[in-house]
Amino acid sequence: MTGANRGLGSHFVEALLARGAERVYAAARSIDALADAVENHGDRVVPVQLDVTDEETVRRLADDLPDVDVVVSNAGRPCKLPVLQDQAEQEFRSAMEVNFFGPLGLVRAFAPHLARHRGGILFVQSLAALVISRSSPIYSASKAAAMMLAAGVRAELRTDGVTVTSTFPGFIDTDMTTGLDIPKASPRSVADRSLDAFAVGRPTVFPDRLAELVEDAVTQDMAAVLDDPQAVMTRLIRAFRLDPTG
Ligand SMILES: NC(=O)c1ccc[n+]([C@@H]2O[C@H](COP(=O)([O-])OP(=O)(O)OC[C@H]3O[C@@H](n4cnc5c(N)ncnc54)[C@H](OP(=O)(O)O)[C@@H]3O)[C@@H](O)[C@H]2O)c1
Repeated sequence: MTGANRGLGSHFVEALLARGAERVYAAARSIDALADAVENHGDRVVPVQLDVTDEETVRRLADDLPDVDVVVSNAGRPCKLPVLQDQAEQEFRSAMEVNFFGPLGLVRAFAPHLARHRGGILFVQSLAALVISRSSPIYSASKAAAMMLAAGVRAELRTDGVTVTSTFPGFIDTDMTTGLDIPKASPRSVADRSLDAFAVGRPTVFPDRLAELVEDAVTQDMAAVLDDPQAVMTRLIRAFRLDPTG
């Protein structure tokens, strides 16, 4: 469970424990940030220090933790810069490192364990993978790359009986959306709906109301979504604001 210290990740930890997970390896860049979870759940939460961009540590963890049967690839970072921004290369590469190469390293390292246990991996994607975000185009690109990574892994691990699910949330009430004036899904409900779909082996899940609206739009008219994403999102967000619960 990556990015387990705050935001959606901390709610995934709670949701996994509530579903009876024997042990959750809660991975975070700073394990001090996991003190509350350990205090509340004792040895069912095992803090693990992990920066997902550190491939060497990811490989070592996989060697040390052969009992892992489910991976939740949740850690992610925003990247709110236009494509043509000056001197943004490092920011762009960093977004790809965390949001694409991070999950890639995880799945490559843990796949043998997942296959042995006939377990699974849940990728936390974003609606931004499907509808380009005007304010965060490289974030969108990194999540779109991760979406295809998940599809590729699903195909490669199918015969091993490994579940691969991508969840595509809309706006969630976490630090990532601070200051954004729009109805937001609760992180616990997103975690629960994502895990419900994972538990029954679904390849994708749209775990909140805005996500469902986008799923419909993509299904009905992908050409329009690619041609004028801003118009599509403006229409969907207006409908969502009027009725955020559907
Ligand atoms: N919030 C939304 O509206 C929304 C919508 C769709 C999808 N998502 C996705 O949901 C996931 C969780 O986001 P969130 O909303 O919970 O955001 P958040 O509150 O900003 O939390 C991000 C988490 O990712 C961790 N992280 C970032 N870079 C990392 C790295 N290099 N190595 C390890 N951990 C790293 C952070 O750790 P630190 O505390 O060390 O920074 C933190 O735990 C992300 O993949 C995000 O893209 C979010």
